[in-house]
Amino acid sequence: MNNLSQQKDQAKKLRELAEKKRKGSKKAQDKMLSRSNKRVIAVASGKGGVGKTNLVINLGIALARSAKKILVLDADLGLANVDVLLDINPKYNLQHLISGQKSLSDIIVEGPNQIKIVPGGSGIIELADMTDGQRERLISSFVELENQSDITLIDTGAGISKNVLSFILAAGEVLILTTPEPTAITDAYGLIKVINQKDIDVDIKLLVNMASNEKEAKEVSERISLVSKQFLNKHIEDFGFVLRDSAISQAVKRQQPFILSFPYSDASKCINRIANRFDDTAPKTSNGEGLRGFLSKLFRIGENYGHL
Ligand SMILES: Nc1ncnc2c1ncn2[C@@H]1O[C@H](COP(=O)(O)OP(=O)(O)O)[C@@H](O)[C@H]1O
Ligand SMILES: [Mg+2]
Repeated sequence: MNNLSQQKDQAKKLRELAEKKRKGSKKAQDKMLSRSNKRVIAVASGKGGVGKTNLVINLGIALARSAKKILVLDADLGLANVDVLLDINPKYNLQHLISGQKSLSDIIVEGPNQIKIVPGGSGIIELADMTDGQRERLISSFVELENQSDITLIDTGAGISKNVLSFILAAGEVLILTTPEPTAITDAYGLIKVINQKDIDVDIKLLVNMASNEKEAKEVSERISLVSKQFLNKHIEDFGFVLRDSAISQAVKRQQPFILSFPYSDASKCINRIANRFDDTAPKTSNGEGLRGFLSKLFRIGENYGHL
């Protein structure tokens, strides 16, 4: 090789190196940006008893391990079970905050791995009827919490109540749970249909709980995603699955999260897998507005649609 071609060769290598470095730092930047994104995710289902509360708590605990700050809003009006599953006894709830009797720090309870829980209680209905002053106070107290929560998980009630729908639309990201039972599948699709009828863009993800094996979970998820694509022209993202596992009911009886009592169980492995790929499933629509954005959207939805 003569001198000139050696030089050319070196220059080419340098350019390639610089390009590689540039791409690498772009990737790192993207990663940082998506990390700093504040996400609010509503967890919902068509049918009741499919495992929403267990998922919210155990996924929350798993996510908190990777240095994420997790907030759980217990917004299931009828069957608020977060406290029962964690064996905690919150004295106050959102209602006390709305009425001005208590501050946000008074009503928040801390769970394992420092996850923070906001008990909704009957305050969930009162969100609909608040004065402007109350709304402002609520927003500003949640804004204080903003940098203490990277991901907010909302445990909603089952079915298609106006209340649940408002939470889903305001969150902009919903994780729908189903089991492989035909009734749960039909109801999950029913919920997807109703969400899709609203002119608000919602990122819909599907999780199959209580699956006998991975094949069954994939079949269920493909079926729902195919029908949604075909009839609603809506893309549903596969968020994974949790196997049916008796460790869950054992942990529920002990009022302990299964991810802590049975960390090596099938169900815990599934939850860890979901937590590990969490960053990859960030919604394209997320603008990192977090809790403040969520609340102001919630109020706007209430005004525009009278949903709440
Ligand atoms: N993957 C699973 N395997 C076995 N049982 C499960 C699983 N997920 C949930 N369960 C059981 O289903 C019941 C309902 O779960 P829960 O989280 O309370 O549902 P939801 O909040 O949707 O009503 C719980 O008592 C729990 O024992
Ligand atoms: Mg529940």
